[in-house]
Amino acid sequence: MNTFDLIEKRVSVRTFTEREVDPASRQTLLDYAATLKAPWGHEARFAWVPVTPSDREAQRFGTYGMIQGAQLYLAGAMKQGPGAAEDFGYLFEGILLKATELGLGTCWLGGTFRRGDFTQALALLDDEFIPAVCPVGYASPTKRLKEKLIGTVFQVRQRKPLKDWAIVEGEPGEYREALEAVRLGPSASNKQPWRVHLANGRAHFYLEETPGYNAESVARCGFPIQRLDMGIAFYHWERVLSDQGLVGAWTQNDPKITVPDKWEYVATWSR
Ligand SMILES: Cc1cc2nc3c(=O)[nH]c(=O)nc-3n(C[C@H](O)[C@H](O)[C@H](O)COP(=O)(O)O)c2cc1C
Repeated sequence: MNTFDLIEKRVSVRTFTEREVDPASRQTLLDYAATLKAPWGHEARFAWVPVTPSDREAQRFGTYGMIQGAQLYLAGAMKQGPGAAEDFGYLFEGILLKATELGLGTCWLGGTFRRGDFTQALALLDDEFIPAVCPVGYASPTKRLKEKLIGTVFQVRQRKPLKDWAIVEGEPGEYREALEAVRLGPSASNKQPWRVHLANGRAHFYLEETPGYNAESVARCGFPIQRLDMGIAFYHWERVLSDQGLVGAWTQNDPKITVPDKWEYVATWSR
């Protein structure tokens, strides 16, 4: 399946059946992760964290009622550094889309889990952090009331129209599908903080932070969570274009063009 179809297919799954994820699928996902190269070259470490019946009883991993029935989590760790969170967003989204291709349900979790329990399971090193974890399994055919409520609060399938977050000079042309792929991306609390300025085959990516949101996540988790959303946007953009035979590179050099004040420059993709 091409990347765009996978992006359209992926939705957050928060209620899982008992069916186990077989070892071959787990290996496929780790093998796929090993093929990915993030824009700024950071590498992440990924590990499977099974949930045992006693973990469940002790409510270990603390996903606070958000996730039900998950037997398995994929957790990731990365060394701190400039651009690390964007790179993690890119890599983890790549794995989650691969999981979608295998028919597996996933849900990005950046906030609603107990970091301490995963720190132990991953044997986290001093200079590493856990940007996110993800339950991986088979989606239950019926949704719980809570899951339906989460869907209403975050308006999960709703996304801002292009004109609200992108400035496109001229016609989008061959970039139309890639823009739509960015638009459909998941983001923390569905805030959709990515912004794009597109002209002459160059796409400048910006972050319009939700006021207070990153500061709160830095205080609570040690990193700005909306930087993960940027990395997800990078993956969607790059991969949909490369499926179309359009290959480009990421650089960081603020073009200092006129964009709304709140847009903070993050990266440029160009051919
Ligand atoms: C970086 C990031 C962090 C997220 N953290 C959580 C979380 O802690 N708990 C949760 O229930 N959902 C979390 N989500 C899922 C979003 O709420 C979800 O992606 C968004 O509402 C869009 O819905 P969709 O994934 O079904 O398209 C997170 C998503 C992203 C991208």
